[in-house]
Amino acid sequence: MAGGHEKVEVNLGLLIVLILVVVSIGGLVQIAPLFFQYSTTQAVEGLKPYNALQLAGRDIYVREGCYVCHSQMIRPFRTETERYGHYSVAGEFVYDRPFQWGSKRTGPDLARVGGRYGDEWHVVHLMNPRDVVPESIMPAYPWLAQTPVDVSDIRYRMQVLRRLGAPYTDEEIEAAPGMLAGRKELDALVVYLQGLGTAVKTRR
Ligand code: HEC
Repeated sequence: MAGGHEKVEVNLGLLIVLILVVVSIGGLVQIAPLFFQYSTTQAVEGLKPYNALQLAGRDIYVREGCYVCHSQMIRPFRTETERYGHYSVAGEFVYDRPFQWGSKRTGPDLARVGGRYGDEWHVVHLMNPRDVVPESIMPAYPWLAQTPVDVSDIRYRMQVLRRLGAPYTDEEIEAAPGMLAGRKELDALVVYLQGLGTAVKTRR
């Protein structure tokens, strides 16, 4: 047997081929089951794709870089679930393109912030966080209250998401610009925040 091992060690070509075989088997064992694990690709019950206003709010969230300070991913640890609610599950994110899990928490996780505060609180907080949380280091976003929501490409964006699997109806896409008309970016962002994590019923 020792001779066999030496043969592999001194024969570079053979070693490379055998390494590739081992790595491929390891890779397949890890990757293949994911294709059949529907809990990671199917929406949790009650999850709806973002409506036009939420979608616009989500784009503002991304544009303003809220994800730099806020995660949207509750880990399955007691310290997290006590504070934020039920841990996040993969099926909650199937309509999130791109997902907003984030990687840093300068502020709290927002995965289940929907319904935690009133709309009015969010408006005041986004205009100037210090008005409701005196020690806050979150930046103020007062321009959102003045800027109208961009309606020009909302239909196109919904069509693209539909192609990727979001079940929008023709009527919903048709009605989208009307839903955004006259709304300010602040409204859209608050509507987006208030919907976060509400598909899974949580104990708080
Ligand atoms: C520089 C980091 C930073 C950025 C950028 C930031 N935040 Fe925050 N955020 C915080 C901190 C710190 C807190 C905790 C203090 C407070 O409530 O203001 C917070 C709190 C919050 C809360 C309350 C969460 C809770 O459970 O109490 C919401 C909602 C929120 N931020 C939304 C946003 C949105 C929307 C944006 C982008 C427009 C944003 N944040 C950008 C740092 C940030």
